[in-house]
Amino acid sequence: MPQAIILQAIIMVSNFSSTTPVLNADGTISAIVRDRQAAAPAGWLLRVWLPVAYHAGGGFGRFFLARCAEDTTEARRNDWSIYNRRALFCAGMPQAMPDQAGSTWDLLVPATADPGHSWLTQRPLDSALNLLGPFGHSFELPAHARALLALADTQTLPLILPVVHTMLDRGGRVTLLIRGDMDTASPLLSLVPIPVEVRIIDAANWLAQLSEPMRWADQLCAALPNQQYPELAHQIRTVRFQFDTAFAQVLVTSDLLCGVGACLACVVSTRDGGFTRACMHGPVFPLASITA
Ligand code: FES
Repeated sequence: MPQAIILQAIIMVSNFSSTTPVLNADGTISAIVRDRQAAAPAGWLLRVWLPVAYHAGGGFGRFFLARCAEDTTEARRNDWSIYNRRALFCAGMPQAMPDQAGSTWDLLVPATADPGHSWLTQRPLDSALNLLGPFGHSFELPAHARALLALADTQTLPLILPVVHTMLDRGGRVTLLIRGDMDTASPLLSLVPIPVEVRIIDAANWLAQLSEPMRWADQLCAALPNQQYPELAHQIRTVRFQFDTAFAQVLVTSDLLCGVGACLACVVSTRDGGFTRACMHGPVFPLASITA
């Protein structure tokens, strides 16, 4: 919730040329770009310094809306358009800044031809980036969960990392299944913590190879294309015989423009034939709530 961030924020003096992050009086954040790392084929990881404590909690499914234009006082005052903002998802655990206030967060800039994403990948180090957020519900692992099955493909793998770290931090076990081929997935493997068991599975064998880890996992988290969720739900029912709502949580892709439930661009259909807004009630949902 943005309010939670505000409560934990360290408010600094707003100054466009500042090289420290600022929580602005209008509620936006002027973050500082600290690093940029290629994470092909998923995109780029942008490490930004925020004026908030690291335990404010990046998580699986949480996102910021980044304005793809210079972060000036004039723009902050006059430009509230949602159309030049892009959703950037958390792709790791926030880290405290050694000897400085605030924390650094890794955000994924997807590999697309979108001009906004291109602009973001070219931000100079130490430049300011205007953010709103974080938005979205932070996924919470049930207290009893100790064996996580994480599913991703080569486009989404960084997005699953927050929940992977969360499970490892509590002493649990993680198996990560990556849908793709070895050549494409290999450049991403350095992002995965060493204790994680990683299996790379091609599309032809994907569903069959899900069965065995599904039996022993006590939690499943997936960041896959939306169209794969119905067959994932079917496989869970087949393997586990019952479909416990809390067992499988999935990140749903949608257009995230305003982040506050106003524009309806992010609506996703639900199992009962209705609609819900991903920015308000997701974008992580129980799989059982969105699939028949
Ligand atoms: S992003 Fe506007 S309603 Fe969800």
